[in-house]
Amino acid sequence: MSGISTFNPPVRTLMGPGPSDVSPRVLEALSRPTIGHLDPRFVDMMEELKSMLQYAFMTDNAMTMPVSAPGSAGMETCFANLLEPGYKVIVCQNGVFGGRMKENVIRCGGEAVMVEDEWGKVVDIQKVEDALKAHPDAKVLAFVHAETSTGAQSDAASLCRLAREHGCLSIVDAVTSLGGTPVKVDEWGADAIYSGTQKCLSCVPGLSPVSFSEAALEVIRNRKTPVQSWFLDLNLVMGYWGSGAQRSYHHTAPVNSLYALHEALCILQEEGLEHAWARHEKNHQALKAGLEAMGMHFVVKEGDRLPQLNAVTVPEGVDEAAVRRALLEDFNLEIGAGLGALAGKVWRIGLMGHASNQKNVLLCLSALEAVLSQMKAPIEKGLALDAAMAVYA
Ligand SMILES: Cc1ncc(COP(=O)(O)O)c(C=O)c1O
Repeated sequence: MSGISTFNPPVRTLMGPGPSDVSPRVLEALSRPTIGHLDPRFVDMMEELKSMLQYAFMTDNAMTMPVSAPGSAGMETCFANLLEPGYKVIVCQNGVFGGRMKENVIRCGGEAVMVEDEWGKVVDIQKVEDALKAHPDAKVLAFVHAETSTGAQSDAASLCRLAREHGCLSIVDAVTSLGGTPVKVDEWGADAIYSGTQKCLSCVPGLSPVSFSEAALEVIRNRKTPVQSWFLDLNLVMGYWGSGAQRSYHHTAPVNSLYALHEALCILQEEGLEHAWARHEKNHQALKAGLEAMGMHFVVKEGDRLPQLNAVTVPEGVDEAAVRRALLEDFNLEIGAGLGALAGKVWRIGLMGHASNQKNVLLCLSALEAVLSQMKAPIEKGLALDAAMAVYA
């Protein structure tokens, strides 16, 4: 094949909905020598990884490990293992990812009872309680903690409590929340939770940390039918990820990606969870001050917003795709488009993990203002940076 040689990606600043900028420390870890996935030194590293994931998820759950595939596989792991054909599941939808949960339920042979909220709103606790009362035979309550398509953060503690009170297990999507805002698995009493490495953990994409409570494991151990996915069957996966001398081959683990996750979790531990949450909040406040000074409006109401995912409405008459293209071409800056019902109407600006910093906030505000000014968009000029700097002062 003539003309094809080494791929050298451009150096971008990633401020979309993920992946986020990966720390040089994590990229360096990725390039360390590959060793066998059953090498005793690797197995020791796996144990450290599991304990650092327990720290990140704030749990003592023994079954806490990374699935060797992206967040969507973590989602499928939860549904495929907890559901059997005919199971009824209450699924909350307030954006794109609740819809994917519904798809999972149907493909597992279950029945999805939908509790729908407007995009940009959080999951309505009262509606969920009503659904649980109306469907006492439901086995699972599933919801998205951090809806990446809108930037809304739902009340996971109350939703998990409601599930327990109604005899249901909970499945929680924490893909965008883990490492950016509190994810308190044991305090919430969440039963099955999944995340992704490419958001606030600022690791390379392609791994999905998951955690399962003892109650969830009991259900999985006592299934009447086998899990229909061989690859995601936790009874088999635990042969590799479980502790003890009898660890055996299940699939070839993504060895170097797991070094990268180990390093990303070391960074999180060094900073400390509370400090990481506070940093995300501070940078969100500064970005918000700048965007609002420009005259932009958030999709989600104050108090319900995710600091790591800022969805703002595109100003009247602006070609939103042209703005993103100019940011990428002229500033090497990536921000996200709207998804689903919000496609073409909003931008999604991520401040996730390593990318959540003052330099990125100021770059984004100045680049956006420059591009929008050039396009003669109806914005307030010359105020955004001062407004952001006032938050840092
Ligand atoms: C809330 C949420 N759930 C699930 C996923 C799917 O994760 P992945 O793209 O890693 O498969 C994403 C990805 O953006 C997400 O934001």
